[in-house]
Order: sequence, then structure tokens, then C-alpha cells
Amino acid sequence: MRLLSLPALCLLFLGQYTLTGCQIAAPEVAEDKRTHFVDSVLKTMSLEDKVGEMTQLTLDMVCVGKPFHLEEPNRIDTAKLRKAIVDLRVGSILNCGGHAYTPSKWHGFIGAIQTAAQEKESKIPVLYGIDAIHGATYTAGSVLGPQQLGLAATWDTALVRKFAEAAAKEVVGSGIPWNFSPVLDVARDPRWPRFWETFGESPKLVSDMGVAMVKGYQEGPSPIAATLKHYMGYSRPLSGKDRTPAWIPERQLREYFLPPFAAAIEAGAATVMVNSGEVNGIPVHSDPFILQDILRDELGFEGLVVSDWEDIKYLYSRHKVAADYKEAIVMAIDAGIDMSMVPGDYKFPVLLAELVREGRIAESRIDQSVRYILGVKYDLGLFQSGGLPPSLDGYPEKASLEGTAFRAALESITVLKNDGQHAVNPDQPILPIGGTGQILVTGPTANSLNALNGGWTRTWQGVKTQYNTEGRPTAVESMREVFGADRINFIGLEMDFGDSDIQSVVSAAQRQRPECAVVFLGEMPYTEFIGNIEDLALFGNQHDLVKALHKAGTPVVGVYLGGRPRTFAETDAVLDALVMAYLPGDYGARAIADVLSGAFNPSGRLPFTWPRHASAHLTHDRKHTESIHESSKTDAFHPLYPFGHGLSYSTVNTTGIALVNGEQAAMGDVLSIEVTLENTGDRSTMETVILYSQDRVATITPSVDKLAAYKQVVIPAGATLTTTLTVDTDKLGFINRNNVYTVEPGAFGLRVKDQVVEFELTDSL
Ligand code: BGC
Repeated sequence: MRLLSLPALCLLFLGQYTLTGCQIAAPEVAEDKRTHFVDSVLKTMSLEDKVGEMTQLTLDMVCVGKPFHLEEPNRIDTAKLRKAIVDLRVGSILNCGGHAYTPSKWHGFIGAIQTAAQEKESKIPVLYGIDAIHGATYTAGSVLGPQQLGLAATWDTALVRKFAEAAAKEVVGSGIPWNFSPVLDVARDPRWPRFWETFGESPKLVSDMGVAMVKGYQEGPSPIAATLKHYMGYSRPLSGKDRTPAWIPERQLREYFLPPFAAAIEAGAATVMVNSGEVNGIPVHSDPFILQDILRDELGFEGLVVSDWEDIKYLYSRHKVAADYKEAIVMAIDAGIDMSMVPGDYKFPVLLAELVREGRIAESRIDQSVRYILGVKYDLGLFQSGGLPPSLDGYPEKASLEGTAFRAALESITVLKNDGQHAVNPDQPILPIGGTGQILVTGPTANSLNALNGGWTRTWQGVKTQYNTEGRPTAVESMREVFGADRINFIGLEMDFGDSDIQSVVSAAQRQRPECAVVFLGEMPYTEFIGNIEDLALFGNQHDLVKALHKAGTPVVGVYLGGRPRTFAETDAVLDALVMAYLPGDYGARAIADVLSGAFNPSGRLPFTWPRHASAHLTHDRKHTESIHESSKTDAFHPLYPFGHGLSYSTVNTTGIALVNGEQAAMGDVLSIEVTLENTGDRSTMETVILYSQDRVATITPSVDKLAAYKQVVIPAGATLTTTLTVDTDKLGFINRNNVYTVEPGAFGLRVKDQVVEFELTDSL
């Protein structure tokens, strides 16, 4: 990880820290300087300084009022600030007191905190961290793009990197250097309430997107430290509920859940946040196998490991593996935690120091963690800047960032179905909606900016409308803008609408005979345990609404705003078209309207498998025994929409696949695969070519398909073209019986849609 921007690097003096030159130098020289600097600071630190550095408190703890019930307007309580920063030498503060602040308000907070830090003897600046997960979420008025699931649906890693760079500009502009993003959990269970915070179900797609986002944050023009979270095994609890037990054998951990973390660490990620849950009966915060053996020894991670919210305490208060707080601290520190996101009491540093004095934790172990923490602070240039915010004059112009957020929203929108007949041209599908007729717009997510943005938007749950970005349109507002207000007849519904509301919508449809109804389905925002559900099925009233409109003879276009695939097969069957919009952010409304109108030819592809039935969720990389009885409803794999599915307004047929160098390959070869594509439509279109590998025989049951490569190609109307994808044969392996990654020689297939080519992989040719 190297995060420093040049100007910051060349400021050589702050407080007592003297640096000996600009730190851009040959890598080994720079590394030596860094080590030398960190060691020289560490030498001057007392035990109290060190345990303070390992402590992270929430902003609430230094503000006026009760934590989590602060007085408005939120403001610093100088006595509390002194106690935390000067007396307890707390090294890190996180998040906001419950809602977003303007950049200048942030500057006030950060300025006060860093000024207090200068009063401690060590003068070490505070490392401020925030959840800026789809833009600078806690900075009022900032540009908010799609949540990660939508970003993954773009399959456009370059765009995702640009989006992360743009987000970092506003995070830095707010005076904050550390972002708790990206989420690299692999989404394997749609019940899990943080499904939408992920890049979907494929370890490869999550890895690629994760690397793009880390690079965008850390290597862009405004570098910030990224956090890989939640390491690891968080996303597939048995019950589907947040922070409940997961049972994941080591082979699966390594096959599905570890690769994104490994890739992002390889890409230089600065920090890692630990999974709050338990895996195989062991809370991850107390598991040296995951935190030490794999993370440090195997992956060689040399950054900072931060706990998740209150998780050291939870080792005794929730998980019951420790008898008291002190035992919990010993466990977590032994396991490998460097910094405790405490975040709401002052006991942690006091008890940690006591434990060192009692000889229960070695001071050398503390030194190790403090080194990692100081290393991140050094890389971020905090010792040069004192952690003070940059001038507000340099705060980025909103207009310069909006384009990327809008583009990401556009590219994410995924048309899943387009079967109905067009009202004006019966030989055309229902989408894009053309003509000049009336459009009935309804549904509980149609007129809500919150529904477009999801959780972690201005507030934790993203539901308080008073903090919404001023001036951003809801879906129906953009529909009016794009189609003309006189064509849109809107009937608003709350989430809990009932039969009489449905009757009003149907009566309106019968009276007006619209060209079609556009029904905005889905969920309102949530995150963490607040989003736990008992049943994956979509809410009954939404089914009833769609069915009633269909029965009344109105063609229905469904637009789904939500972050997990809730099941609704019977309702889907009567929809004339279905558009998955995920949680597209503040610019999503216009993106949806532009797709519906045809101004934009959709290119999004599902980054997960949409189950047909609530209890029958499988993924694209399922095993063969999961679909042996194709004729049987119970055993066959028949999702509602498969991973990678998505339509455009021009049909692209895949007509050929061939291996450039023949059907023999040696281990280590990079395969070139030519795929022929034919755009049979009358519009230029962007096609995402998705290539799966199929291991024919292996010592661990192979997956039916594994994502091996993907590429985006623009195909002009009516054109046929051949594009080349590459697959590194070293990547065709799996975790073997000894839980070690291996590539076995033998027969393989490569598939794009229904085109398959076979080849033989040999040890050597
Ligand atoms: C979440 C993390 C988040 C942290 C700080 C936790 O509850 O699990 O994803 O980064 O809070 O807000």
C-alpha cells in the first residue's frame, strides 16, 4: 500500500516529526524510510500511547449529548474530546453522530479532533474512518451512485474504479482518509440482509470488482485507505440472518470466500475489517487460524486489522467464549486484532494496558499492532498534514463527479424479461416504451429517493427522508421528465398498501386504458439485522397488485428496486417485462427512465442467480448432482433468472467459439478463445461476453460452470464480429482434498451461452 499524494509527501515537518526527504524513492529505500520512521515513533511511545492507538471510538463519544442520542446540532464536547484524545490517547474515530454533515461541518469536527491530538505528548494524528460505500455517504449533498450489487451488474471494472476515485475525492474533501469499503463478502444466500452490499455471487467477479475499487480508492488522485470487509465467511450464515452462525468447511472458505480478499490484498489494500460472526463455532474475532495463519502468514497482509463494531466485547456478551471483557481482549489480541472498534466506552485501552502490566499480553504483541497502525497513518500522510482537512476551496465540483455515478447507474440497469407486445408496434416487444399514450406509474418504490439508494445513505439505515439529497428525482419524477408529465398518471402507494389501494389502481387503469403500467416493486432500505427476513418471498400486496393489473388487461412492466432477489415466480409469469434496477443511487431514476424509454440500450447483467422458489437457491457454480433429474421439479436447477442474464434492445446471438491455439494446452498456458457474436437487431449494443470453464473430471466434484473470463464489446447494428477472450490455465484450479489450490490436468470445456469448446490440459506438451 502506498497512498501518498506528492504534494503531501514533500511537506517535511509537523510537530515533533521530522522526515528526512520526499518519500517518493526507490521502493526499497521508501520501505526502509517507512520502517525507520515507524520504529522511531514507536520508541518514544508509552504503554498508554500504544493502547490508545489501538482504540477506535465513535464520534458520538466526543460530542454533546448521550452517545447515539446526540444533541442537535451535533457538536464537539471539548471535555469529552480531551478525555478521549488527550487522556486516553485514542488513535482513531469513526463515522458520524447519526447523519450526514456538510463538508464544512466535517472540517470543524476533524479540525477539532486533530487539534486535540496535538495536545498529547506523542502528537500522533487521529485516523478517521467512515462508511463511504456508494459515494461519500455521510457527506451531505455528495454524489451517490449505485450500491455494490448494481456496480457489479455493470461488469465494467474500469468504470467501478473511476467511481471509487470520484467517491474518494469527496471523502478526502471532507477531511477523512479512511474508508470502510469495499465489501468483499461473496453473496451466496439472498436472505442475508447485506446481499446488496456485495458484488454478487461469483468469487471471480467479486475479486475483480474489489481490486478495481481498492485501486480507485488508494491509487486515484485523492488517495484514501480502503478496508476489505468483512474478513471472512460473513455472508452465508445458516439462518440467512445477520451475524448468526456460519458453518463453512475450510475447502469452501478457500474456494468461495477467500479469493476476493486474497486478490485485494495482492492489490495493496491497506486495511481489513473482521467478520462479526462466528464460523464453525469460532467467533472470527477470536480465530488465529483466519486472522493469523491465513491473513498474515499465507496472504502476507501487512496492513491494519480493525475489529467490527463492538466485536471484542461481543466475545463475552454475545458469543460466550470469554468470561469477561478482559478475557475477550486477550483472545482478540492473541488472534490478531490490531484496533478495536470499541466504539462506545472508555474501558478498552485501560483494560488492555492492565493486561500488559499483568503479563497476560506481551508488550511486543502490542508493538506489532501499533506498527501496523502507524504504518497506515504514515502512508496516508497524516504525520505531514497533522490529519487536518485540505482547504474547502479544493472541494470537488459536484458536476465533475455526477457523470460517473450516472453512467454506473445506466450500465447497471438489467432488463430481465421483455416478452409483452408493444402497444403501438405489435411486432415489437413492450420495451422500450414508445408511442404517445398514457403510462400508469405506481408501486411502493416509485416515489422514494430512499428506495433508490438503500442503506448507508446519509444515515445508517438510509430511511430518514430529511437527509436525502436535495433536488434528486425519484423514479416517477424522472419518468415525467423523460416521457412528458402529461403522459404519466401516477398513483402513489405506501409499502403496506392494501386491497382498496389495489382497487383504486385497477379502476384508474380501466378508466384510462394506458399503454402500459410501470409498477415499481421491491423493498425499502435496510442493513444489518434490521433487514433480517423470515421469508424470501416478495410481499403479498406487490404480487396482488401486479396480478390485478394483469387481470384487468393492462400490460405490466415491473421495475424492481431492491438489493436481494425476493421470490415472485407466479407474479413474474404475468409481467410483460421486468427491469432489475438494484439500488442505483441518486442518479438511478433517470437511468431507469432512459432504459424504459430506449434512450439508453440496456447492458446490465445479473451478478447473482435469481431463485424461482424461496427454498431453492443455487448458484451458477453449483455441482452436477444439483441438476441430475432435469425432468423433476424438485431436483432440477431452474432459477427464475440465471447469473449473467440480461437483455438489450438488440438481440446478440453467440454463433461460434474456438480455441486459437488448438484443443491441447499445457499447464501455465494462457488460452485465447475466439467468440463470434451476431447482432441481429437494428441498434448498436454493448454485449458482455461471459465465459465459463467446465472441469470435466476432478478429484473434488467440479462445478457445472465457473466464471472464467468476461469482456464487453460494442457490436454495431446488424454486425457480426469475433472477439478474443483469454483464460490463464493456472486459474482453472480448485481447492483439493488437502485444502490446497491445485490445477489438475485433464479434459475441460469452455462455454459462452450455448457454444462450447473442449480442450485437454496436460502437465507438459
Ligand atoms: C458494520 C460495518 C461497518 C461498521 C462501522 C458495522 O456494524 O458491520 O460494515 O463498517 O459498522 O460503521
